[in-house]
Amino acid sequence: MTTALTAAEAEALQRDRADPGHRALFHIPPAPAGRYAETAYLAGNSLGLQPRATREQLLADLDDWARLGVAGHLDAARPWLPYHALLTGPAARLVGALPAETVVMNSLTVNLHLLMVSFYRPSGRRDRIVIEDSAFPSDSYAVRAQARFHGLDPDRAVVRLAPGEVLGYLAAEGDEVALVLLGGVNYLTGELMDIPAITEAGHAAGAVVGWDLAHAAGNVPLRLHDWGVDFAAWCSYKYLNSGPGAVAGAFVHERHLGDPALPRFEGWWSTEQATRFEMAPVSRPPATADAWQVSNPPIMAMGPVRTSLELFDQVGMAALRERSLRLTGYLAGLLEAVTADRPVSVLTPADPARRGAQLSLRLHGGSSVSTAGELVRRLAARHGVVADDREPDVLRLAPTPLYSTHHDCWRAVEALLAEL
Ligand SMILES: Cc1ncc(COP(=O)(O)O)c(C=O)c1O
Repeated sequence: MTTALTAAEAEALQRDRADPGHRALFHIPPAPAGRYAETAYLAGNSLGLQPRATREQLLADLDDWARLGVAGHLDAARPWLPYHALLTGPAARLVGALPAETVVMNSLTVNLHLLMVSFYRPSGRRDRIVIEDSAFPSDSYAVRAQARFHGLDPDRAVVRLAPGEVLGYLAAEGDEVALVLLGGVNYLTGELMDIPAITEAGHAAGAVVGWDLAHAAGNVPLRLHDWGVDFAAWCSYKYLNSGPGAVAGAFVHERHLGDPALPRFEGWWSTEQATRFEMAPVSRPPATADAWQVSNPPIMAMGPVRTSLELFDQVGMAALRERSLRLTGYLAGLLEAVTADRPVSVLTPADPARRGAQLSLRLHGGSSVSTAGELVRRLAARHGVVADDREPDVLRLAPTPLYSTHHDCWRAVEALLAEL
């Protein structure tokens, strides 16, 4: 850097020296041009960055395959047959679950479907599914498809509510609700829901309560077991840094494990490992979340998830949350200069206890950019600041505590002040 630092930039850099995070463990994409070598990457809520360890670990798995062929199922350094179990412990610790309650498999929406096969059981008047009005579209499509699968009209069975309406609705109409399925952290607004309170209220109303933790896993501390959550699913490509389309996770509470009354879709990986190769025509599912598996897992895709989960284990979610509160609080403070005299407002709750790493901005009329997409393109091309948009008017910035810096936050705000 040749240009003299402003006091604000010097302060951001000083904060980073005191609070460095784990940036050196990641590949940070280079900036297109300009003053800084690296991008200010604030899109880890969309796609997390690649840990440096991932390539080496993946190559080791590939080498086993090259060297061993089919024998790798038993003889690989990390044998493929029980490979998925290597991910279970760290994934369970991440979401506050018992290992028996946790399984890494498939992708997020597929897991939501497999879990709804078991946990959406409409019966008589109790047939509704409550989701949030700003649910991610995949969840909305999935619950509508589940309603149709049961012969119900999705326009009637699916109830879309603002987050603040959920508790009141459960108290008033809860006897018609079969399932509550909400995002733990909303993808658009970044609002962290009160997972224990909503879970308790859902249960009090006689409903099953499941959570989509796509934006919560690896972002905020979770205690799914203690909170009594019935089921949950999450993806691994956002805060979990396991690569595009990475293998997802699922949780089923202990009280449901081994329940023969619960329907499940099955395949050969639903049966217990010890007798799988007896090739019996009838499965013997274990009394663990593994029973929700269907197919044998994609080993080469599991490796990056394993590497990333090991990192979370080393650093610990509690320490990450501490740093996340500092970083996001710092960004929120800097953004006041933008919202003070530019036509934008912050959508995310101001209370740090009600949000994770993400802050969402809404562009109002009168802005010098026509859409959030246009703003995102300008931030990237002119400033090397990577954010993301949800059209037409929402910009999302997520300083992720593993690798984002105070300086990234400062750069984002300088870029917004220049472009808006
Ligand atoms: C909240 C939420 N749910 C579901 C999905 C869809 O995930 P997948 O394509 O991995 O099934 C996403 C993707 O970003 C998401 O953010």
